[in-house]
Amino acid sequence: MQISKLDKNHNRKTFDCGSEPINRFIQQLASQMLKRHEVIIYVAHDGDTVAGFYTLSANQIEQADDPNQLKKQSKHTPIPCVLLGRLAVDQRYQGIGLGRDLLLHALKTTKQLSQTLGIAFIVVDAKDASAKSFYKAYGFIELQNKPLRLCYPVASIPSAEQQE
Ligand SMILES: CC(C)(COP(=O)(O)OP(=O)(O)OC[C@H]1O[C@@H](n2cnc3c(N)ncnc32)[C@H](O)[C@@H]1OP(=O)(O)O)[C@@H](O)C(=O)NCCC(=O)NCCS
Repeated sequence: MQISKLDKNHNRKTFDCGSEPINRFIQQLASQMLKRHEVIIYVAHDGDTVAGFYTLSANQIEQADDPNQLKKQSKHTPIPCVLLGRLAVDQRYQGIGLGRDLLLHALKTTKQLSQTLGIAFIVVDAKDASAKSFYKAYGFIELQNKPLRLCYPVASIPSAEQQE
């Protein structure tokens, strides 16, 4: 299955990951947010059918979010991050590794971006305990003072050369 940026040929009308707010996002809200340059959306597509997707946007965390984990980061300025939002897979395609593939694609894309602008972490806001356990299984660390927010250091993502 290919992963590419969402475009007008992708069919997202029937997308159903089991979460109504996430379905509504991709079916109704995504186009406006794209037009406003608030997100970039990557989709895994089976032909034109959207099977899964995730969003990336700029964000920040503070050292106070987890003084222990983030003690080496700047105390005086926000820590620049990429927010991985709304990773979701249509129920018809769940359980075959697509969520993992999308997550690895997001890590790789963020690593590439970090060659162009300062990004210390990729962060996610897990929507519930189940989503949180999915991210933790891939090494994401929860922030002490924001329990559903998890982060992953960009320095720990292998570069393209290291992956070869
Ligand atoms: C969470 C979600 C993205 C997983 O997608 P998926 O394609 O079914 O997951 P995969 O098949 O790629 O699974 C990869 C691994 O994660 C594990 N996994 C999947 N869902 C998990 C969960 N909720 N908790 C812990 N581990 C999970 C799988 O067992 C698999 O492990 P393995 O490699 O050891 O076999 C999908 O269930 C989904 O879209 N859920 C609804 C939306 C949602 O909760 N999104 C989370 C963002 S807030």
